[in-house]
Amino acid sequence: MNGSASGHPVDLRSDTLTRPSAGMLAAMAALTPADLGDDVYGEDPTVNALEAEVAELFGHEAALFVPSGTMGNQLCLRLLVPPAEELICDADAHLVTYEGGGAAQHGAIQTRTLVAARGLLDPAAVRAQLRPAGYGTVVTRAVAVEQTHNRGGGAVYPLAVLEELRAAVDGAGLALHCDGARIWNASVATGTPLSAYGGLFETLSVCLSKGLGAPIGSLVVASAALVAEARVLRRRLGGGMRQAGVLAAAGRYALRHNVDRLAEDHARAARLAHALAEVAPHVVDPRLVETNIVPLDLTGTGSDATGLAQRAAAEGVLLSVVGSHRARLVTHLDVDDAGVDRAADVVRRLLSA
Ligand SMILES: Cc1ncc(COP(=O)(O)O)c(C=O)c1O
Repeated sequence: MNGSASGHPVDLRSDTLTRPSAGMLAAMAALTPADLGDDVYGEDPTVNALEAEVAELFGHEAALFVPSGTMGNQLCLRLLVPPAEELICDADAHLVTYEGGGAAQHGAIQTRTLVAARGLLDPAAVRAQLRPAGYGTVVTRAVAVEQTHNRGGGAVYPLAVLEELRAAVDGAGLALHCDGARIWNASVATGTPLSAYGGLFETLSVCLSKGLGAPIGSLVVASAALVAEARVLRRRLGGGMRQAGVLAAAGRYALRHNVDRLAEDHARAARLAHALAEVAPHVVDPRLVETNIVPLDLTGTGSDATGLAQRAAAEGVLLSVVGSHRARLVTHLDVDDAGVDRAADVVRRLLSA
């Protein structure tokens, strides 16, 4: 645990920084050889159990364990969008910001991005972008959303908005993909069952390695037919893993122990946001902190994000720079109340200076 009296920095850069807990490591170590097999042959019972469990949670037929959220997203895009055809997503989507141009490189997919407040696509704006078919017109095949939205400060798509997007894509014969790296946070924050989200998408990529605290692993969730195709594409990318049950065991532990507790991360993020807003209401708006990310907008403060991050680091608090005047603090299971209080003290002081 960082942030208590440990003397370690309070690391609020990302919820991907968590280390497997003793309980999680024990669950991995408790596996016996009979729990493991070659997953490229489809013979790892622990992977198979994880895939079945996650498919059921989202109300889909099948799921595929993959090494990363990036691979999960990239496989899904290739399932939905043929080469030289188009994906619509928001301009701040992880898919087009942090995945190394994979859609272009691996799938030869054209992306059309819409600027959207907090990263949440407006169904009317998406509808307005749908073009009639015609000679030479690029064919739009899919729309992607991100739940919760990372660069949008952990913003949650309300279910009703997702339903409207579903209606929009249905009307145009398109598919809908969800980058659900933090969909668990959305579900816990709103009380919406994962299956209610799952039913709205052809494909989802969901991560065990963010707020859920597993060291590695994401899943593609879709129909049995699409998952069979994804399995071939995963292999082609070198993502076929052998006795991957050692990792899947961490994921199964995370699903049992680390989903409901995301509410604690959300409460800590809210507390942090309120503490900072007391001294810098123009920098932090606690009403926009819905999950575990506290976005800071330093515009007009005389400080840029890098400067703030450096000053905070010098005082043992790490935060992420996400733009010249944008930074963020992310709560996660390795930061406790004492850590959040320490971070609040330091950042409050820096913002008031
Ligand atoms: C919204 C979102 N999607 C996808 C990913 C990619 O996950 P990975 O780092 O496992 O490739 C991340 C990573 O933080 C993310 O925040």
